[in-house]
Amino acid sequence: METETQTQINNQAARRYEGYIGVFDSGVGGISVLKELIKELPEENFLYFGDSANAPYGEKTKEQVIDLSMQIADYMAESGCKAIVIACNTATSCAAETIRAKYSAQIPIIGIEPALKPAAKAHPQGRILVMATEVTLTLEKYHELSGRLEGKAEFIPVACTGLAQRVEKGALQEPDVEQLLEGLMGQYRGQVDGVVLGCTHYPFVRQQVRKVLGGIPAYDGGEGTARELHRQLQLHECVKADGQKGQAVLESSRKDPETEKVYKELFEAELQ
Ligand code: DGL
Repeated sequence: METETQTQINNQAARRYEGYIGVFDSGVGGISVLKELIKELPEENFLYFGDSANAPYGEKTKEQVIDLSMQIADYMAESGCKAIVIACNTATSCAAETIRAKYSAQIPIIGIEPALKPAAKAHPQGRILVMATEVTLTLEKYHELSGRLEGKAEFIPVACTGLAQRVEKGALQEPDVEQLLEGLMGQYRGQVDGVVLGCTHYPFVRQQVRKVLGGIPAYDGGEGTARELHRQLQLHECVKADGQKGQAVLESSRKDPETEKVYKELFEAELQ
């Protein structure tokens, strides 16, 4: 016979099982993560929210990013999601702790971090360029991460101001994208062994980044985040595995046909 506590736990599990997974970013970038999440968990339902009206987060203060991120987390938690993925390196660095303090007793909160570990593993003692937003590279979280890997590889941080905002506009095959990248990091061509795409907007310009840097491998945190989400859902016993393909709904705080078009295009884009 079930005890009352077990029944409560089971009821809670059942409630979470019905929920969706909330995924958010400052804009279109987190769609690159969403695609990995769908690959890993094809039966889950996802609600993606891109805060394009307030992008870029990477050039705001930590307090502003916490405030904006919390508003989205509140909206997701209040509308019955069973997990939240912060598909934004900047928002994770600024706000993951605050969001966890409020919600992690009820639902798992999964963040993303620049893929320094896989890059260092693939290039022992190598030189690794780390592309990220100004905020990500300034905060303690990044310094802790690179500090933990000291001696394993050399990391060269490059704040890619303006790049996320350019990705927001779509039409990424236009020549100005490569020109922007050339200005940001052309000087490192031939000087580095690997590159970390430490902002979720950047996987959409992976080919252009690799071209500017001379074809070296590029690493991002999408796959690792998808595995971590899967692990957390298993831990909370709320994996949806009913044989039904899940759905993904894309929402943005910026509501105009141009923005909608970019979201759709990037969601359908083949990620290399
Ligand atoms: N996509 C976000 C990240 O991963 C940041 C882009 C922005 O500056 O808004 O860091």
